[in-house]
Amino acid sequence: MTKIILQPSGKALDYQSGDSVLTTLERHGYALPNNCRAGACGECKCKVLKGEFDQGLIMNMALAQEERDEGYGLMCMAKPTGDVLEIEFGTADALPKLFPPRENVYCVVVHKTVRTPRIMEVRLRPLGEPLRFWPGQYVTLGAPNEGAPPRCYSIANIPNDGAEIVLQVTRVEDGRTSQWVHDVLQEGDTVSLSGPYGTFIGDPSADTPVLCLAAGSGLAPITSLASAAFLRGGFRHPATILFSAQRKEDLYEIGLYNYLKVKFRNFDFKYTLTQDANPGGLTGRIPEILPDLFPDLSNYSVYIAGSPDFVEACAEKAITLGLQEDRLHKEGFFEQGEPQAPSPDRLR
Ligand SMILES: Cc1cc2nc3c(=O)[nH]c(=O)nc-3n(C[C@H](O)[C@H](O)[C@H](O)COP(=O)(O)OP(=O)(O)OC[C@H]3O[C@@H](n4cnc5c(N)ncnc54)[C@H](O)[C@@H]3O)c2cc1C
Ligand code: FES
Repeated sequence: MTKIILQPSGKALDYQSGDSVLTTLERHGYALPNNCRAGACGECKCKVLKGEFDQGLIMNMALAQEERDEGYGLMCMAKPTGDVLEIEFGTADALPKLFPPRENVYCVVVHKTVRTPRIMEVRLRPLGEPLRFWPGQYVTLGAPNEGAPPRCYSIANIPNDGAEIVLQVTRVEDGRTSQWVHDVLQEGDTVSLSGPYGTFIGDPSADTPVLCLAAGSGLAPITSLASAAFLRGGFRHPATILFSAQRKEDLYEIGLYNYLKVKFRNFDFKYTLTQDANPGGLTGRIPEILPDLFPDLSNYSVYIAGSPDFVEACAEKAITLGLQEDRLHKEGFFEQGEPQAPSPDRLR
């Protein structure tokens, strides 16, 4: 069977006749940016290191002659013609390469939606080039002139979603930027954001069941990661999202997740309430209920997002239930005292 080899990781993917390289990557859980799947936008460009392929019909503007000469191809239309096609994809551990962050990306607020009494969703559409990001990453948003220092907010949607960036911002008591988002920012306003940053991205090479734990707007990066997985046809192994909310009124995305639960048999979504009763459902903090729900996490990959205390308490519990540390992915929503750039180790 023809193989597509990813370098530098050396991962070998089985190729099914008739598929494009992009489809093969997606079938194996790897995401490659793509905007048209028709050889017109250039988003899916990769360097081919070894092997022959049929590039199919593509637009010249999507792949310049010099790039073709250097060995680049558009993977949405490329089909291997030999036994092996080696392409440059990701890093040594097969994680996708991060996009260089951009500063001052001007966007218009196209929608502002109250999702819960404390969470406001803002949908931002860039005025220039769309922002390229991986599901699970975050941007910084603020308006220093209006007393709102730049703060980190996780992107809740996936790339190619009409080029828009969706953020879900929790109101923090006396919080400068979160209050500005809730009370001052209006639909139609132009704002500036920077990013993408962060490495809370799905590990496509993970061949394990997945458990995602989220509290409050910690659901944002989890929704982004999960949406990307569903776009690629769903999780390959059982996957569960466990969401913690204080009260019934703090629940959101319930409709979306119940739809996905019905549609994908190996996906489950549960929520627990920490302050309200939940007849027939779960109550209590996730670290307390986790041992009953998942007594053995030794073969799982676990993603946790929310306040730093929540993330640490869940991570600690998951480790005691057998989770291997290299399969633990955390996104703590740490507060930022002063305007700051993300530390270099976040950018990798
Ligand atoms: C990687 C990353 C991703 C993030 N993603 C999101 C996201 O998707 N959605 C989201 O809502 N937030 C997210 N945050 C948190 C966000 O960046 C801000 O810290 C938060 O909005 C508070 O900023 P502020 O300017 O409103 O408050 P500040 O003016 O910074 O703080 C005002 C007061 O509130 C306290 N405070 C600050 N944050 C909190 C808090 N979370 N809980 C209780 N008290 C607090 C401070 O100690 C201070 O006393 C993320 C943080 C990080 C690091
Ligand atoms: S996705 Fe547009 S050129 Fe491949």
